[in-house]
Amino acid sequence: ESKLGSKKEKTLALIKPDAVSKLGTIVIALRENDIQVCKAKMVQFSRKDAALFYEEHQSKPFFNSLIDFMTSGPVVAMEIMGTNVTKKWRELLGPTSTAEARSTAPNSIRAMFGSDDTRNAAHGSDSADSAARELEFFFPSRARCELANTAKFENC
Ligand code: TYD
Ligand code: MG
Repeated sequence: ESKLGSKKEKTLALIKPDAVSKLGTIVIALRENDIQVCKAKMVQFSRKDAALFYEEHQSKPFFNSLIDFMTSGPVVAMEIMGTNVTKKWRELLGPTSTAEARSTAPNSIRAMFGSDDTRNAAHGSDSADSAARELEFFFPSRARCELANTAKFENC
């Protein structure tokens, strides 16, 4: 890529249980923003895996309600690719809090499809390091898949 900082990267977009029914609309929004969907899978989080995915928040007061919500139905994990896609996808998501999203970013995914501070439609990795960790979590490398004991999902 010739222009500095315009290299394509990959990140995790995770559609939470409350927005799985909006998947089509969300995929259209990705395409309109020149973001490509490379991989996708629908899975049911176990409490153990949800807690591992969100381990950075384990001491927060909202942790248990977050895990309740994330295990309340299937989620759709997508590996998405585009220029500065980690930042771009978080901009499309809008702020964490639905109320804040509705007041400051009314066309954002969380403003349109979220309902409160916990049920907020979708997740995006917050940095390149998080993206690498979270993509490996949902789309483990072949070597990790072959270690049956560490495989998280049947369709790994
Ligand atoms: P956080 O990483 O702060 O937000 P983001 O998803 O925007 O990166 O929090 C992770 C998730 O935890 C968030 O999407 C929803 C939930 N959460 C709550 O339930 N209550 C809260 O007060 C916060 C800050 C987050
Ligand atoms: Mg976060």
